[in-house]
Amino acid sequence: MCGIFGYVGVPRDTGEMVLDALRKLEYRGYDSWGVGVGVNGHIAVEKNIGKIGSSVLDLPLSSIGFGHTRWATHGGVTQANAHPHVDPSGRVAVIHNGIIENFRSLRAQIEAGGRALVSETDTEVVVHLVAAQLAGTCDPQRTVEIVGNVFEQLQGFNAIIVLDRATGTLTAVKNVSPLVIGRGIDGCYVASDQLALAEYATEIAFLEDRQIVQLDDDGARAFDLDTLRSLHLDWRAPTVKGYSAELSGYPDFLMKEIHEQPEVVRRVASELGGEAQQLAGEISDSYGTFFIGCGTASYAALTGSYLFSRIARRHVNFVVGSEFSYQEHFLTDRSLVCALSQSGETIDIIQSVLTAKDRGARIGALVNVEGSTLDRMADVSLHLKAGPELSVLSTKTYTAKVALLLLTAYALDGRMKEGEDLLLQAADVMEESLHPDATDRIRGLAGRFRVSRSLFAVGRGLSFPTALEAALKIKEVSYIHAEGFAGGELKHGVIALIEEGTPCLVFAPEDETYTDIISGATELKSRGGYIVGVSSRNDPVFDVHIPLADVGNASPLTTAIPAQLLGRELAVARGLDPDKPRNLAKSVTVK
Ligand code: F6R
Repeated sequence: MCGIFGYVGVPRDTGEMVLDALRKLEYRGYDSWGVGVGVNGHIAVEKNIGKIGSSVLDLPLSSIGFGHTRWATHGGVTQANAHPHVDPSGRVAVIHNGIIENFRSLRAQIEAGGRALVSETDTEVVVHLVAAQLAGTCDPQRTVEIVGNVFEQLQGFNAIIVLDRATGTLTAVKNVSPLVIGRGIDGCYVASDQLALAEYATEIAFLEDRQIVQLDDDGARAFDLDTLRSLHLDWRAPTVKGYSAELSGYPDFLMKEIHEQPEVVRRVASELGGEAQQLAGEISDSYGTFFIGCGTASYAALTGSYLFSRIARRHVNFVVGSEFSYQEHFLTDRSLVCALSQSGETIDIIQSVLTAKDRGARIGALVNVEGSTLDRMADVSLHLKAGPELSVLSTKTYTAKVALLLLTAYALDGRMKEGEDLLLQAADVMEESLHPDATDRIRGLAGRFRVSRSLFAVGRGLSFPTALEAALKIKEVSYIHAEGFAGGELKHGVIALIEEGTPCLVFAPEDETYTDIISGATELKSRGGYIVGVSSRNDPVFDVHIPLADVGNASPLTTAIPAQLLGRELAVARGLDPDKPRNLAKSVTVK
């Protein structure tokens, strides 16, 4: 997590520029933020807790500066723990993304040397280690050497930027955590994501592991971390041209992105057939395919394993991204690991892919962010083309992943056209389910459930992952406890939780699960459950019916929408921010 951004170039209101860039990186963490600029013998810093919002800085003009938006890992959400961290002499400041796994021993070493640390963060050790070695030097090349040496002492996946006021440089280095360098008319930039550079850089270069880069007013120079020999950066045109942060009349990005889904699914049907065919070929050639993802992406992956079974009669394994590295022993050079990730930066996915690569497995990817770490690591990367997803909640990229997997399953079975037609049919049903009357009905339900203690979602077969995703959508944004279950599991313990009035979302598409899920709903109702049925049929067991025309194998696309809307409406009814729920970040770049 955490977003970092730095600039060296012509003197300007660097603080405000950095703050503006940080607003684009806030999806990586938004519990606190800070900006530092180098001026007349010191580093001026402003930090604050909370979201950036419309904050304005009071920092002097400067030609060098950087900033950080934080998702706390080590140390609470306080001003002292916010980055940048500055050394006591005021020469060196550091911002960091990642976790320094050995920070305790480094901290003890620094304290034993008589230096006091003022924050609870792991990051602050870097400040002290660098500053101690820099004392008495004023040579930019020495700064590169020293930052490189210190970085080699850090364990874990990290990216750091060191501002050295004495040499007027920013020095940046990374291990797995991403860093992108940019150059433009006014100067050079470094950021954790090219989205933050889009407005300024005419060219970008991805920093690779074991490279270190130094930025000053002459430009950006890269070196090999081991030999310190100069390297050429691979400059290229940015793949992200900035994004529209316009709400276009919607009250929040969550609502906007929920409404974009029919178009996203149509685009998968009309533009991604070639990609689906390519992935189908990879799956067909592999001896063992594994779909992996985290959170919502894991539910898309699980849905994919059901779709491949139903449509192509092909077994595809599903493993949650954060668990995959513990189950890699069976991978061979004939395995295909297909990672699903909106951001392409989720560390558990990156770690799994590294593990799989070590075993010689082939890597497929379904990613939304082009140029992301996963995108660049994969042998075959399929772009979802869903457009930037700005709400922290995944909605349109979930349906894009499911749609692309559905199309791939049809492609594998030689029935591509059937898959495309089904997606177009599903998109029409999605459109209907977003009609204002349908939203009003869900708003009414949110009014009723806003004080509920718990909510349950159940489905069988293809609807089981939908139930899991529905529960996640609801709990992460409304903070109401919600759980998803396989309908058949109710009697094995879960039903003990049902009380008078407990809301139960029941997904009942017209497939082989219908009879059994309705009998499960009847058992829930007999114990007081308030049944909201999402189905084409209005069964007498439903207290409330959310009608959705049946779309067969594409039902996960349509049934996702009522749950997304319910989550959003519950958040609004409870006075919460639908786009930035507490404790979350859009890109989960630490373990
Ligand atoms: C939930 C949500 C998360 C992400 C998960 C994986 O709405 O957004 O569960 O799906 O953190 O993120 P990506 O897809 O970027 O790997």
